[in-house]
Amino acid sequence: MSASITDPRLDGQALSRIVYDADQIARRVRQLGADLTAAYPEGELLVLGLLKGSFIFLGDLVRQIARPLQVDFLVAASYGDAKTSSGDVRLVYDAGTKLEGKHILLVEDIVDSGRTLTRMMDLLSQRRPRSVEICALLHKRVAAHLSYPVRFVGFEAPNEFLVGYGLDHAEDFRHLPYIASLQ
Ligand code: PRP
Repeated sequence: MSASITDPRLDGQALSRIVYDADQIARRVRQLGADLTAAYPEGELLVLGLLKGSFIFLGDLVRQIARPLQVDFLVAASYGDAKTSSGDVRLVYDAGTKLEGKHILLVEDIVDSGRTLTRMMDLLSQRRPRSVEICALLHKRVAAHLSYPVRFVGFEAPNEFLVGYGLDHAEDFRHLPYIASLQ
């Protein structure tokens, strides 16, 4: 396949098309932030980013939420260098912040098989939070292993391998300001 996106960040690597450009993402993140601001009742809110994929989304999203909150991170990994999930979701780093009694918003870049979120939600639910909700930028709606609802969704995403805005393939492409398809 020849590259159809011209971008010095790509260094000759092939990406077929931009699926969401930076302006579309910024508009949607602003709306999500407004939705979250309106949705959350009083009480402590802890926004928990699932790394590494959510790092850009989370940074943009929390700046659009107009209420007090705290931020912490979890690191989960499942894919390795492959394009399909290994099914083995590992918690590589756990949040240091106490979860008990807080509203937890788990922020994920993409829901694919749903294994990562299900594993993380199982873990978080055991820590007696006041509530736990999921906010995912992208939802492919193909998740066969998702046991929890995704209350806040940025985009209904095509079932393609997507990279950019935090999402990687073999650790490349995370820094792209847009989301593109590898196919
Ligand atoms: C990717 C992505 C999601 C997860 C989605 O993470 O960031 O967290 O896979 O797939 P699933 O719904 O099939 O579980 P990855 O394990 O590649 O780690 P990363 O966040 O460091 O890129």
